[in-house]
Parts: sequence; C-alpha cells; structure tokens
Amino acid sequence: FVTPPVPPMRITFDARMEPSGPVLTRRMSDLRGLFADTAAWEASLAEDPVVYEVASSPVPEAEGELPQSITTIHPGKVGGEFHMTKGHIHPRPRGEIYLGLSGVGGLLLFDGDKPEWIPMEPGSIGYIPPGWAHRSVNTGDEPYRFLAVYPGDAGHDYEWVLRNGMGYRVLGGADGPDLRPF
Ligand code: F6R
Ligand code: ZN
Repeated sequence: FVTPPVPPMRITFDARMEPSGPVLTRRMSDLRGLFADTAAWEASLAEDPVVYEVASSPVPEAEGELPQSITTIHPGKVGGEFHMTKGHIHPRPRGEIYLGLSGVGGLLLFDGDKPEWIPMEPGSIGYIPPGWAHRSVNTGDEPYRFLAVYPGDAGHDYEWVLRNGMGYRVLGGADGPDLRPF
C-alpha cells in the first residue's frame, strides 16, 4: 500500500484481476459458522477449496481515501447453500458501491431488521447504504466477480454477522436462488 497522501494513479487489475496490492484467499476452513449444514461444511474440509479471493488496490484504508477491491467467488454449494463471502458491517456507517464484472450473483443486505437482495450481473451497480451489513453470493456456475469501492475509514466488523446473521440464507432452487428467512 502507498502511504497517504496518495498521488493520482492508474490502478491496473490484470486479466486475472490480480492487482499490484495484496490478494486475500478465503478457503472453506475460514468460513466456520457460516453455512447452515455444519456436516456438509465439515465434509468439504477434506479438500478445503478456495471459496473466494479478494484482490485489493494499493490505495490505503485511511480517512478520505477511496480503496477498491475485486472479489472472485468460485461457484459451488455447501448443503445446497451457495458459496458466499463472510459478510460484514462497516463500524463507521459508510456507503459502498459494487459493480458486477463477470458471472452472476447477488448482494445480500441486512440492517438487523429486514434483509434485501440485489441480483448482480456484469454491469449491475449494487448500492450498500450506510449501516447495512452485506454479503455476496455466487448463484451461477462460473466465477462471480465484482468491484467494490468504499471509504477508507469505514472499517470491517465480521462478528456482527456471526451474531445477527444476514436475514436470509441463499439456496439453489428450481428457478434460481431460493431466499430462506432465518
Ligand atoms: C469491502 C467489501 C468487499 C468485501 C469482499 C469480501 O468493504 O465489502 O470488498 O470485503 O467482497 O467479503 P468479506 O469482507 O465479507 O469477506
Ligand atoms: Zn463492505
């Protein structure tokens, strides 16, 4: 990461969406407590596949800055539930935008009261208002990739989602994603 103040720059994500900054890899074993079917989750640990990767731009997470990242969620299900990100809420309430790049998926939002679901495809912009927890789900059979842009002072709280859930579980249904309240 560059130290603030950051100069104007052109940030390149290559064809594999690998940026000049770090790439975070989340395997199945990193997703404890997320999937409803614990036995299916435990069985998947034998292979421990990569569920998603997050490639970050070199812009720092600092006040006033606007960092970006590209997430790739690999296709798959655990006990019928689609592959998804951990999900988090920003401790400092800040808006965020997602832009769908390839594949299909959805953006699940939860304000602690009522969940919302935004279907995503290439070209879709999903808007996350301040104060809404968010999680992304791959509902297709190819990698789902999106760009995220968020204020650098937002912070990330993952415990909130483990405590409160996300309002829906997203399972594979006969006619696309099946949203089950929980
Ligand atoms: C940043 C943001 C995304 C996610 C990424 C991985 O605020 O919302 O870049 O961080 O899609 O998801 P999590 O962070 O929930 O593991
Ligand atoms: Zn976020």
